[in-house]
Amino acid sequence: MKLGTPLTASATKVMLLGSGELGKEVIIALQRFGVEVIAVDRYANAPGHQIAHRAYTIDMTDAAALKALVEKEKPHFIVPEIEALNTDVLADIENSGIATVIPTVRAVQLTMNREGIRRLAAEELKLPVSPYAFARSEADLQAAIDSHIGYPCFIKPTMSSSGKGQSRITQASEVKVAWDYAATGGRVNQGVVIVEGQIDFDYEITLLTVRAKNAQGDTQTYFCEPIGHVQKNGDYVESWQPQAMTANALKASQHIAKTITDSLGGFGLFGVELFVKNDQVWFSEVSPRPHDTGMVTMCSQRLSEFELHARAILGLPVDTSMTQTGASAVIYGGVDSKNLSYDGLEAALSVPNSDIRLFGKPESFARRRMGVALATGIDVDEARIRAKLAASLVKPAIG
Ligand SMILES: Nc1ncnc2c1ncn2[C@@H]1O[C@H](COP(=O)(O)OP(=O)(O)OP(=O)(O)O)[C@@H](O)[C@H]1O
Ligand SMILES: [Mg+2]
Repeated sequence: MKLGTPLTASATKVMLLGSGELGKEVIIALQRFGVEVIAVDRYANAPGHQIAHRAYTIDMTDAAALKALVEKEKPHFIVPEIEALNTDVLADIENSGIATVIPTVRAVQLTMNREGIRRLAAEELKLPVSPYAFARSEADLQAAIDSHIGYPCFIKPTMSSSGKGQSRITQASEVKVAWDYAATGGRVNQGVVIVEGQIDFDYEITLLTVRAKNAQGDTQTYFCEPIGHVQKNGDYVESWQPQAMTANALKASQHIAKTITDSLGGFGLFGVELFVKNDQVWFSEVSPRPHDTGMVTMCSQRLSEFELHARAILGLPVDTSMTQTGASAVIYGGVDSKNLSYDGLEAALSVPNSDIRLFGKPESFARRRMGVALATGIDVDEARIRAKLAASLVKPAIG
């Protein structure tokens, strides 16, 4: 792989579709290799916009707008960071050979829709998953629960992210509210929901899995150490690496991750979400890109998940080794404001082995992720305590 000089005719150009906090870190990693980066988001001054060579604000579900921008910028690689994209345009681009879509358009299409990825995992690849059904009406939903899903169960829009439109219910009287919420809470109101039986797991993990070229130029699959995490309302609040697992559970996890990522193909880093109980492992979902729970790798690995993604995209060798036990804890806005400031950083950064990332998002909401605290420790307990303490000492306030 030959890399050019940014802002010259030889430049290697990458376009990020979605430029939030995860995209911002991918941009930094790419720029360290002298890559020219074009950051695109739906709102102005997104985190990645603030550091890219060029920034655009467009509706990425708008076919004409997306196509025009790609034709204007002519990137070598298109790197989706979000799911709300016009994938027909991406398919045209991939077919015409204008640019490589990371990891592949098919992977982007399958993972943006729970129906696509669930049917692939369960029905084609025969991976273990929770009991599930798709429902196109409230009556369908009730019938599926009554016939084989049971309670408690999770009801989710087929197209959504970060827990939007999702609920967990325990009885029939809650079905209507869950249906209404899922059918309207999705990103694109498709009126199709998935209902999943609850898996009674001991813990859940993200297994970061990288498809990259090895030194011989062949495609190889690499695994990071498993990341444990805590979710609240479909949003991650804390993560750590490594998550202790039995040898059998780890083997089963890696098998599932290899099977699903082999099928999705292409190059890049994937976040494979799995539920674990003793030696038993269930596939939940997969992101064909860095994962929010993987932010911990900024302190725990030699190369963060963002650096791994950048290398895999560029066809460069990767190293997934963990160097220190680490943890991350989310910093929320706490208030709705377009003028947020952050106090308490002296105290937060006085926590041993800690670090803070503030994403620079132009607008905060009470439950919007505005930053993250990172910390390493002698073991997971110490790292988690430190990361949570550092996060709690950062005080966002208006003005
Ligand atoms: N079938 C299930 N059994 C048990 N727990 C579940 C199930 N489905 C979802 N959960 C819980 O809800 C969380 C969010 O679910 P899921 O990952 O499907 O949603 P999401 O909206 O994609 O969240 P994100 O985008 O933040 O990953 C899971 O990480 C898990 O904690
Ligand atoms: Mg998830």
